[in-house]
Amino acid sequence: MEIKTFKKSYLQGTKSALKSAFFRENSHASFNEWEFAEAVLKSDGYVPELCVIALDGEAVIGYCALTKATIGNQPGLALGPLGVCKEYQNRGAGTALVQACISRARASGSAWIALLGGEYYARFGFEPGRPYGIMVSDRAFDNEHLQILFLDPSIKSRVFGKLIYCDAFYDENGHLL
Ligand SMILES: CC(C)(COP(=O)(O)OP(=O)(O)OC[C@H]1O[C@@H](n2cnc3c(N)ncnc32)[C@H](O)[C@@H]1OP(=O)(O)O)[C@@H](O)C(=O)NCCC(=O)NCCS
Repeated sequence: MEIKTFKKSYLQGTKSALKSAFFRENSHASFNEWEFAEAVLKSDGYVPELCVIALDGEAVIGYCALTKATIGNQPGLALGPLGVCKEYQNRGAGTALVQACISRARASGSAWIALLGGEYYARFGFEPGRPYGIMVSDRAFDNEHLQILFLDPSIKSRVFGKLIYCDAFYDENGHLL
């Protein structure tokens, strides 16, 4: 398995990998996570070297994106979506993708990475955003899942307020997808 920078020629493979990771039978979601790979590619928050894929040979088996974001007046990065093909899960690909994103974010000089997610991310140093006064929407569920990793700890006291993702993460009414 190797980690590479995502590029457009991997889009179909990436969509399939994300679909395998996220597809749920009987889901009535109006937006599916596998559409994010294309939406991110076209968005104002897309930074090519910060989107990565995991490959097994030529097959895309996982994807993780970092896109431009702000919290209050502080620029940083948002992580997601992250997905690994069902049949490749629990073999280290998710860890390799997140670690690659964190090291690329560090190299880019970014001060923080925020995300909406579960327990999986604690192992990489992510912590709840709520104690810092960071939120993302009016929905309590979203705010409870907001996590942040400070790459520059000296900035902690200045990062508070609302996390704003790039345009790919909102519907036409401005609601978070
Ligand atoms: C979550 C996901 C990206 C993890 O990638 P992965 O390659 O399967 O994970 P890794 O092999 O790197 O890590 C495996 C470890 O993570 C844990 N883990 C996997 N998914 C987890 C989850 N959703 N919550 C908490 N821990 C999780 C495993 O139990 C295992 O723990 P261990 O190291 O203590 O044994 C992958 O399972 C996936 O795509 N899931 C479906 C989509 C999804 O939920 N994406 C994240 C959205 S927030």
